[in-house]
Amino acid sequence: MHGANRTPVVVIGLGSMGTALAEAFLEAGHPTTVWNRTAAKAAPLVAKGARHAAAVEDAVAAGPLIVTCLTAFEDTRTALEPAAASLRGRALVTLNSGSPAGARETAAWAAGHGARFLAGAVKNVPSAVGAPDTLLYYSGDRSVFEEFEATLRVLGGDTVHLGDEADLAALYEMAVGAVLLPALVGFFQGAAAVRARGLEAASMVRFTGKWLDMIKSLLPTYAEEIDSGDYTDAASSVNLFLAGASYDEELAEEANVDVEWLAPLNGLVKRAAEAGHGEHSISALTEVLRRPERAA
Ligand SMILES: NC(=O)c1ccc[n+]([C@@H]2O[C@H](COP(=O)([O-])OP(=O)(O)OC[C@H]3O[C@@H](n4cnc5c(N)ncnc54)[C@H](OP(=O)(O)O)[C@@H]3O)[C@@H](O)[C@H]2O)c1
Repeated sequence: MHGANRTPVVVIGLGSMGTALAEAFLEAGHPTTVWNRTAAKAAPLVAKGARHAAAVEDAVAAGPLIVTCLTAFEDTRTALEPAAASLRGRALVTLNSGSPAGARETAAWAAGHGARFLAGAVKNVPSAVGAPDTLLYYSGDRSVFEEFEATLRVLGGDTVHLGDEADLAALYEMAVGAVLLPALVGFFQGAAAVRARGLEAASMVRFTGKWLDMIKSLLPTYAEEIDSGDYTDAASSVNLFLAGASYDEELAEEANVDVEWLAPLNGLVKRAAEAGHGEHSISALTEVLRRPERAA
């Protein structure tokens, strides 16, 4: 599927994610030039048909679309600095994690060098790159998204442009990503408790999956409550969660499991009850999490 008519792509940063991105472009037949600080990481991609640029300046000059996947925005700017003069008129698409402030800073840096800029985020693991339902969001210059949408879709079928503000993808990446660690630590805590009984963590997988499905099914209701500010129709109240908190300590004692990470979460529930949300929906925790507006 090598296509002379496919857009040439440059991939900069060949860690686990950058390598997966380059592989997806190669598989879809895009002429792909790669560059990485540690040059040896390019070898497996060259074996699959990529062209290796020894210098970042040569990489940037190799195509109209530059996709970067470095650790952070700051690393991206540092790595591209020697090639900054060649960025003029090219489309720069970053696909790293980072804060909205980092995205804004990089957008200003890219504009300063005459590059057209899109900040993106991959909401999945490297092995999912290229799958039809893999989610990637982008924000920034819509004309870049429209011009290269078909090429970017190679990385994942659920490809979304969130808006013209370059920091939106980073905002959503962080806002949606916030679920990850609490959900995983919860699973690991449960696994520690069943392992303490000589049972396998694998025995939990089906049940935890159902629990996560249930949580997913509740998100539209919670979002509606938060957006309307009306928490009075509580299927699961703050007080219900407050009552459940004491069981954590009992299980911790019995199974010899460290549940300290839950203390701040239970503290949040307690503060919500103290603020008068006891009989309100658990989504009222959002009100406790939102800090008062800062004075201008
Ligand atoms: N892996 C995942 O599951 C996953 C999922 C979603 C999003 N992401 C995001 O994707 C981005 C890359 O992740 P990854 O897993 O590919 O990380 P990784 O395997 O650690 O690779 C990091 C890459 O960044 C390069 N790099 C870092 N600092 C640099 C600098 N100052 N100058 C030049 N190159 C620099 C590294 O070059 P060297 O090889 O020379 O060190 C390497 O190519 C991160 O923002 C990550 O949060 C990753």
